[in-house]
Amino acid sequence: MRTMVWSEHFALGHDRIDREHRRLLELSAQIEARAETTTDLDDILPLCRDFFRLLVAHCFYEEQLLRKLPRDRFGSHVDEHCRGHARLIKQAQTVLTGQVPSGFESLQGFFGAYFELMHDLLVDDTELVGSLIREGYHRLGAPEVYANWRPDGAASPV
Ligand SMILES: [Fe+2]
Ligand SMILES: [Fe+2]
Repeated sequence: MRTMVWSEHFALGHDRIDREHRRLLELSAQIEARAETTTDLDDILPLCRDFFRLLVAHCFYEEQLLRKLPRDRFGSHVDEHCRGHARLIKQAQTVLTGQVPSGFESLQGFFGAYFELMHDLLVDDTELVGSLIREGYHRLGAPEVYANWRPDGAASPV
């Protein structure tokens, strides 16, 4: 099983996002290591709970920022990225109910695929959050700044 570690490659120059990415990677490495020594999901649940709490808060915060990007240029990319977040959250919720998500035969097989998806999303973050920083949208401002965002893909009339 592959254990991912934090590297400067992931550092985006955004304090909160970088700190949370680093912590998510630390927790995922701990979960993977624990999953190699047990087949009992109960042994891993406390770590999974810590991971899940941070994951949900992180995705919520990051999505608020990403929705400030101009929709005409970034909309489909941001939507796709947020669908990836939703998939991570949904599968983590299943694990917290004590079950391995369907389609996976073993705990190890599931976590391997799960953290590979997380890794892909982190790489995608370097592009999207990098754009946020370049374009100056990397701080949460007044709600009206992103009030015209429509998550369903429809641009609002101007
Ligand atoms: Fe992220
Ligand atoms: Fe992300």
